Amino acid sequence: MKNIILLGPPGAGKGTQASRLQDEFGMVQLSTGDMLRAAVKAGTPTGLQAKAVMDAGGLVSDEIVSGIIGEELDRLGSDKGVIFDGYPRTEAQAHSLDEILATRGRKLDHVIELVVDEDALVDRITGRYTCAKCNAGYHDRYLKPQADGVCDQCGGTEFKRRPDDNEQTVRTRMAEYRAKTAPILPIYEGRGLVQQVDGMADIKVVQDALEAILKA
Ligand code: AP5
Ligand code: MG
Repeated sequence: MKNIILLGPPGAGKGTQASRLQDEFGMVQLSTGDMLRAAVKAGTPTGLQAKAVMDAGGLVSDEIVSGIIGEELDRLGSDKGVIFDGYPRTEAQAHSLDEILATRGRKLDHVIELVVDEDALVDRITGRYTCAKCNAGYHDRYLKPQADGVCDQCGGTEFKRRPDDNEQTVRTRMAEYRAKTAPILPIYEGRGLVQQVDGMADIKVVQDALEAILKA
């Protein structure tokens, strides 16, 4: 059982790869972005608080996201390891994660940085859409469903786009990544946990590189 963090700017491919690792290894993807979007959709107090921040491309408070990560971990029964997708994103969250894992008898095995060229990210994000029914991810050019307009996974025919996937918000999200998230890498480098993977390669090539790290 391995617990890993996928780190990288918006559009780096964290969600795409986490869901593939989930399918391949039976690991559990914990995406704070997905959890917050679910809270917004359900209209919970957390969702109401988070919505405006997310729409503007800012970061939701450390207390909220660390709280939901702890709750989600407690909800898991036995699992084959966890993939943290989009968490931690600040130094405070990195410290909270240490505590969250320690109190649950878990340890961190790898922090994998998806290294990408920022110029490509706006293009990736503005072309992204997901199945409205099962949430499978697609892209207008890089990952189309096999049959036009029909989800490969569930046969659904309705798709949706995220409200924060516009160029202006993406630029803010990237600036947040540079200012608050990239600086947590040295914490994990100091522990010898960081490995870099070229996130500009084809989706399947990135997946193979991640699987090689997990199998090692
Ligand atoms: P979140 O949902 O985590 O968004 P993000 O970090 O901006 O990352 P994305 O989901 O946009 O990108 P991704 O790396 O998952 O890329 P994907 O695989 O989809 O967070 C959203 C918001 O929630 C934040 O802005 C913040 O407000 C809040 N939040 C979340 N977590 C928080 C936290 N911990 N603390 C505070 N606030 C938090 O790929 C993108 C597209 O590219 C897809 O269409 C895909 O098909 C395509 N693609 C992927 N890989 C490749 C490839 N190798 N080649 C070509 N195309 C590719
Ligand atoms: Mg994502």
